[in-house]
Amino acid sequence: MNTLLLNGKSREDIELAGKILRDGGLVAIPTETVYGLAANALNPKTVRRIFEVKGRPADNPLIVHIAELSDWEKLVRELKSDAIKLAERFFPGPLTVILERSEIVPDAVSAGLPTVSVRMPSHPVARAVIRAAGVPLAAPSANLSGRPSPTKFEHVKRDLMGKVEAIVDGGDCALGVESTVITLAETPPRILRPGAVTVEELREVIGEISLDPAVTSPLPPGESAASPGMKYRHYSPASPLTLVDASPEEYGKFLSTKPGARALCFDEDLDFLAAPGLSFGGRYSGEEQAKNLFSCLLRLDDEGRAPVFAHLPSKRGVGLAVYNRLIRAAGFEIINPFGHMVIGLTGSSGAGKSSVAEILRERGFHIIDCDRLTRSGEVYDEACIRELLGAFGEDIAEDGILNRRKLAVRAFGTAESKKKLENIVFPRILSAVRRKLSEIFLSGERFAVLDAPTLFEAGADNLCARILTVTAPAEERLRRIIERDKISKEEGILRLNAQEDESFYTSRADFVIENPDGGSPKEAAALAADALVRELNMEIHPNLDQV
Ligand code: TXA
Ligand code: MG
Repeated sequence: MNTLLLNGKSREDIELAGKILRDGGLVAIPTETVYGLAANALNPKTVRRIFEVKGRPADNPLIVHIAELSDWEKLVRELKSDAIKLAERFFPGPLTVILERSEIVPDAVSAGLPTVSVRMPSHPVARAVIRAAGVPLAAPSANLSGRPSPTKFEHVKRDLMGKVEAIVDGGDCALGVESTVITLAETPPRILRPGAVTVEELREVIGEISLDPAVTSPLPPGESAASPGMKYRHYSPASPLTLVDASPEEYGKFLSTKPGARALCFDEDLDFLAAPGLSFGGRYSGEEQAKNLFSCLLRLDDEGRAPVFAHLPSKRGVGLAVYNRLIRAAGFEIINPFGHMVIGLTGSSGAGKSSVAEILRERGFHIIDCDRLTRSGEVYDEACIRELLGAFGEDIAEDGILNRRKLAVRAFGTAESKKKLENIVFPRILSAVRRKLSEIFLSGERFAVLDAPTLFEAGADNLCARILTVTAPAEERLRRIIERDKISKEEGILRLNAQEDESFYTSRADFVIENPDGGSPKEAAALAADALVRELNMEIHPNLDQV
C-alpha cells in the first residue's frame, strides 16, 4: 500500500486526512501524548483493520477520540456527574474516561466489554483531523503491538509505512506517555493506567480513587486484567532491559561491573558512570522522563542489542506513568544490586523531621543523623579546620579549637562565603556518611535512613535510592522553631524566609509526609512510616542477594 505522508500544518492535508477516515481508511495522527492510529470509531470494519495492522489482540479495547463534548453523550449510556467534572478540568488533554457504552459503539471498539473509553486530545492537529473527519476516531498508539509507543513522526513511519493510508506529521509529542485511563464504571473510580494527569490531580476533582494493582505489579497468574492492555508485555525494546533500584552512586557502581552493557539513566547519574549513558531526563522531573522514555528505548534498539540497565524512576506524580511503562518494558525485571537501600529524610526546618526519624528508628530503621555527624570531629578534623582558617581567617579558632559562632558569622554573611564553606564541609560530610553506611550495611542491615536537612545541597541525595520529605503548614513550622530554638517570632520568620520553599523538597520526594496543622505530628509520621515500610517490603526483590 502507498502511504501518504501528510503535513499537519496544511489545511488541505487535514481535510484529506478527514476524507480518508470518512471513507474507511486508517490515518496515523499526532496527539499531545503519543501518535495514534485512527479510524472511524463507528465503522466496525475499519476498526477491525486497526487490530490487523497493529497485530493487536482482539480483546484489547480502543480509546475513542472526540473533539466536542456532545459526541461523548452519544457514545455512553449516561454521562455521570464525575465525568463532567473531570471533563471540565482536564478536557481537552491527556485523560481517558471509561463509562458504560451506548448501542452506537461497535463491539470491535470495546472488545466486547460493556464500556467505552473516551478522550478529547488537546493537540491542535488531532482536533482538526477529528473535526475534518466528522466522526469520533478510535485510535490506539500508532506502534506495532508490543513495541514502544511512537512519540515522533519518524517512529510512526518505521512501524506503519506501507500498512496504512496516511500518516500526518505533527512533530514531536509534547508529553510522551499515553493518557491516564480512569474508569467511572465502578465505585470508587479506578485508575487503570497512569499518565500525565496524576492521581493526586484526579483526587482533587472527584475525591476517592483506587489504583489498579496492575499499575505497579505484574498480574498474578490466572487473574484477569481490568484493562486488557495491562496483561500484555508492552513497550518492549528488542534489547534485554532490566531496571536497577539504587541510588545514583550505586547505579554507577553497579554499571561498572557490567562492561558492554548500556545505561538508560537520569541526568544526575551521568557523573557516576564510567562509560557514556543515555539520559532520559532529570531524576526529579517525571515530565522530562515521560517525554523522552519511548524515543530513548527506540534509540537504544537502533544502537544494538547489548543489555540495557535502566535506573528505576520515582512513582510520584507523572513519575508513576514512567514507572508503569518501564516495568512493563522490562517485563518486571527489577534488581536491587547491593541488597540494601538508603532513604534520604529531609524537609524544611520545623516540619517535624526528627519525629519522623524517631518513628522510623522505632520501626527498626538505622538512622544516620547528619547534623550530629557534622558536629563530630569526623567532619571538622584538623585538615578541615586548617582549610577553614585559610578561607575565613586565622582568628576563627583559638588553640586549634574552632569558634563556630565566629565561623557562622563570616560564612553566612554572603552567598559567596556560604558556598566557600560548603565546598570545604560538604565533601567531608559525604565521606563520613559513606563510611557510616558501609559500617551499617556490613553489619547486615538492609535499610539506612539519612536524616539530613541539607540533603540536596550537599549532594547526599546521590547516596539515596528513596527520598522522604516532611512538610507542615508555614505557621506550624514557625511555631515549632520558635519553641524549639527559643527565639523571637521575628527571628523565626527570618529563618523561615532564608529557607528553600516547601516545593523544593516535595518536588524531589518519593514520599511526602504531611504534618497536619494542630494535629499530632507523631501520629501523621507513624502512618506515613508504616506506608513506607510496606512499600519498601514490597519493592525489595526477594532474591536480590544473588544478583
Ligand atoms: O494517549 C493515549 O491514550 C493514546 C493516544 C493515541 O490517544 N492512545 C492509547 O491507546 O494509548 P492504546 O490502545 O495504546 O491504549 C489504550 C489502553 C489499553 O490498555 C486498553 O486496554 C485500555 O486503554 N482500554 C481501552 N478501552 C477500555 C475499556 N473500555 N475498559 C478497560 N480498558 C480499556
Ligand atoms: Mg498502546
